[in-house]
Amino acid sequence: MAASFFVAFLLFSSLLFHLNSALSVDYYAETCPGAETAVTEVMKKAMANDNTVPAALLRMHFHDCFIRGCDASVLLNSKGSRKAEKDGPPNISLHAFYVIDHAKKAVEKLCPGVVSCADILALAARDAVALSGGPNWEVPKGRKDGRVSKASETSQLPSPTFNFSQLKQSFSQRGLSTKDLVALSGGHTLGFAHCSSFENRIHNFDATHDVDPSLNSGFAKKLRKICPAHNKAKNAGSTMDSTSTVFDNTYFKLLLQGKGLFSSDEALLTHPKTKGQVSQFANSQEDFFRAFVKAIIRMGSLEGGKEVRKDCRVVN
Ligand code: HEM
Ligand SMILES: *[C@@H]1O[C@H](CO)[C@@H](O)[C@H](O)[C@H]1NC(C)=O
Ligand SMILES: *[C@@H]1O[C@H](CO)[C@@H](O)[C@H](O)[C@H]1NC(C)=O
Repeated sequence: MAASFFVAFLLFSSLLFHLNSALSVDYYAETCPGAETAVTEVMKKAMANDNTVPAALLRMHFHDCFIRGCDASVLLNSKGSRKAEKDGPPNISLHAFYVIDHAKKAVEKLCPGVVSCADILALAARDAVALSGGPNWEVPKGRKDGRVSKASETSQLPSPTFNFSQLKQSFSQRGLSTKDLVALSGGHTLGFAHCSSFENRIHNFDATHDVDPSLNSGFAKKLRKICPAHNKAKNAGSTMDSTSTVFDNTYFKLLLQGKGLFSSDEALLTHPKTKGQVSQFANSQEDFFRAFVKAIIRMGSLEGGKEVRKDCRVVN
């Protein structure tokens, strides 16, 4: 008995990621009760000026949590030749870092040195979803900020060319289930993707097909028009779904019609269990919202750093 507990303990502690059980929804109730409202106000203003902000912040929180846990490592600037995550390869759609700077400034004014950048990012991601018509939820807080950010570690992020087993592995390494994978992929209801993220499906797909046969043919034609082979337009691309500023379940409906953008989206249909969940979320926005909230809270608990950064772009 004791031996098997010990083995279980060893296995558990050898996992790369830990869930932080110390987070709590009223973490700042005494020390900074105004923090959440301050972040929400900044988000509302930023969104009114730029409707790409919600997608940017939701994706930023995901990237943050998947590398070194949710420790705001994604926010750190490069230092000379030591390139940070934000200057790593798949950074094309990371933007709107200024929104976090504004939120941090507002929060520091209320209670200096108390609220971590990782918590501010988690709150901003929640607001991004809630203010776009998606679910609202209480964010557990108490994350700490890390001191390390390496461009080379962005290779730990899942790639849009991943198949089901690769996606499953990437999520399970972080304690996330395949249901979490499906629900969180629903984040692709917001935002925009560049041609480079899906061109593998529309040119030279494999030895026998130029175009991925699982793509709806009309949709594939449209994508090939936007993204011709040897495409020179660096900013060309497609919205993630047909209602890309609204957080809804359209992503899942389109996916079932062969109109998912990435191979990694399509991959959710290659396994009977996850295909069933895609159908379920396409049929019931309520089920999607419920699963999404559970999953993003889990993803948001991946343990990270040790300090409360004064400036979100540099370590203390
Ligand atoms: C399942 C694995 C995932 C893969 C392979 C993936 C991949 C990508 C890629 C390649 C892009 C487009 C980048 C570009 O071309 O500019 C993108 C965009 C986006 N992703 Fe994901 N992603 C995944 C999971 C997630 C999760 C978990 C979330 C959040 C819950 C998320 C939220 C977003 C959002 C909101 C955008 C649009 C960003 C913008 O418009 O600024 N993704 N994703
Ligand atoms: C992405 O990385 C490139 C190359 O290192 C860098 O020039 C660019 O500023 C980065 N983009 C963002 C949004 O940080
Ligand atoms: C998924 O991709 C990996 C890496 O390319 C490959 O080894 C594996 O066989 C693929 N799995 C399936 C089911 O196609």
